[in-house]
Amino acid sequence: MSALTALYPWIKTLHILSVIAWMAGLLYLPRLFVYHAGAAPGSETAATFTVMERRLLHAIMNPAMIASYGFGILLAATPGAVDWRAGWIYAKLALVAALTLMHHLFARWRRDFAAGRNARPARVYRIANEVPTLLLILIVVLVVVKPF
Ligand code: HEM
Repeated sequence: MSALTALYPWIKTLHILSVIAWMAGLLYLPRLFVYHAGAAPGSETAATFTVMERRLLHAIMNPAMIASYGFGILLAATPGAVDWRAGWIYAKLALVAALTLMHHLFARWRRDFAAGRNARPARVYRIANEVPTLLLILIVVLVVVKPF
């Protein structure tokens, strides 16, 4: 039995925990943008949001994303763990790519706020907030139900 096979349940545990931490950030950061968009530029409130957004992205979301990828790749590399003839794994990976794009889009928006050059209305962030939720639901259905 390979080491990956022996550790499979533990690696899956770490994968799920890091995915939860990543998702918490992907769901909360655009919420902060909604409030931040309503704060006067240069105000103390805006400065507080800037700090919260930077810490959330750098201390939680970036490490959690890297850990989700790392443990996910180990799961995928475990002999016999994934049936590569099934379609769900490719659909899942495509949706994970979309989640990663959202992460980078949010990182760019955070930089805009930090530089005091946000020009988007709160509505944009409210809509963007729904995208990771939808992707999360689809990914969980794919990995648990494996419908195809
Ligand atoms: C590059 C990134 C990722 C890779 C390579 C990857 C790969 C995998 C693999 C191979 C499994 C085991 C599947 C099985 O045979 O049951 C798994 C499980 C799982 N993944 Fe990922 N994953 C990634 C990212 C994500 C993300 C972003 C989420 C959620 C948003 C997620 C949610 C889950 C869940 C909930 C399970 C547990 C499924 C179960 O065993 O019931 N994964 N992942």
